[in-house]
Amino acid sequence: GNEWTDVRELVEAMAGTEVLIRGRVHTYRHVSSKKGFLIVRQKGCLVQCVVTESKENHVSVNMVKFVKQLNSESFVDVIGYVVLPKDPVTGTTQQVEIQVRKVYCVNSALQQLPLYVEDAARSEADIQAGKPGANQDTRLNFRVIDLRTATNQGIFSIQGWTQIGFIEIHSPKLLAGSSEGGSAVFRLDYKGQPACLAQSPQLHKQMAICADFERVFEVGAVYRAEDSFTHRHLCEFIGLDVEMAIHKHYSEIMDLVGELFPFIFNKINENCQKELEAIRKQYPFQPLKFLPKTLRLTFAEGIQMLKEAGVEADPLGDLNTETERKLGLLVLEKYNTEFYILHRYPSAVRPFYTMPCADDPNYSNSFDVFIRGEEIISGAQRVHDPELLTEQAKRFGIDVETIKMYIDSFRYGAPPHGGFGVGLERVVMLFCGLNNIRKTSLFPRDPLRLAP
Ligand code: 4AD
Repeated sequence: GNEWTDVRELVEAMAGTEVLIRGRVHTYRHVSSKKGFLIVRQKGCLVQCVVTESKENHVSVNMVKFVKQLNSESFVDVIGYVVLPKDPVTGTTQQVEIQVRKVYCVNSALQQLPLYVEDAARSEADIQAGKPGANQDTRLNFRVIDLRTATNQGIFSIQGWTQIGFIEIHSPKLLAGSSEGGSAVFRLDYKGQPACLAQSPQLHKQMAICADFERVFEVGAVYRAEDSFTHRHLCEFIGLDVEMAIHKHYSEIMDLVGELFPFIFNKINENCQKELEAIRKQYPFQPLKFLPKTLRLTFAEGIQMLKEAGVEADPLGDLNTETERKLGLLVLEKYNTEFYILHRYPSAVRPFYTMPCADDPNYSNSFDVFIRGEEIISGAQRVHDPELLTEQAKRFGIDVETIKMYIDSFRYGAPPHGGFGVGLERVVMLFCGLNNIRKTSLFPRDPLRLAP
């Protein structure tokens, strides 16, 4: 399989090697029917890709034509050789060029964009000198494009830099409309305008991906107004949200989950022995059983296991709390783990933004993660095609006007992407075998409790 190289890693020492890069069409300069220069941008880094008609490289004049008609900001995969240019390259960040062999359009942007990155990036001095530029309101209205400038990539990389290659973001908690499509939101008055508290960072973390941040996370308050009087629902909880561009498959997201949590569990077991002992003294529990390589089962496999155990569950419906628990026990028996991923859920039971499976739209590129038979995470690949997204939102009864800016974000060029959301209190509750989420919330907020 092909591996993608980061544009910023393209250096002279790589001359002669073949690389595959993914980035946006920044600009294109046409020389003739046989030659053109495509500048590809990735997170503010630019590399010049030379497309030349050549029998040897299997590049035809049609290929040059194809590259010429690509819309700005579209995502492309480029395969080519790293070459040292005869003259030093200007106007790019990389000093090497790519001699193109193949170009694939991964996802096209609109032909006419409401804002161009160059116009958003124009300096104030240039604008005063009469060069075209975009004013602040335009830039904020089309923030997902504005954020792609090298300047904004810089500002938010500094603000959210981490050692792990994910940028920490802080999405707004005051929203004009619901973010999960549900009705259970806390409504409030935003200076005369109806508003609500965010049910999740879902829409904005996806927009951060459209804004080229590639891999982002957030730890923050999440608000749910549902009247759930259970041992595992709060009205305010701490969500750990992750969103990332993916290259091929939603398994890339499950790989992350499957490695991250055993790492966390091991660290807790190694470093918190005294604390675990203290908890166990009042609330006895068995250490969590988990595998170094996290088990993955498909939803259909789960349904089959239940069936064999005499439990009927709808293969196109959702599991209820009881069947989830039962499946947890069956998995423990068969695979000796209390931590596993269940994926390829029926589309009908997932949120509107979930990507259907390419081979069967009744199922989706989605997953839940369980500890001791209870859900701690839900995640999925997202729909990045604005038309399909609109269709799915309508099918779920969502007023698409309220999420117009979110849907439009995907018209300005978006990469395939996905992510997940973790409930912090649930993870701690289930890791420690506790029976109530109120025990793991510092000052719990539930349908009946707003104090202390
Ligand atoms: O399953 P949920 O609602 O999924 C989302 O919010 C998606 N935006 C996530 C995504 O990226 N696709 O919530 C995610 C997790 C749940 O698995 C659960 O652990 C926790 O958040 N959670 C709650 N925790 C406490 N009280 C509640 N009312 C919760 N609702 C969800």
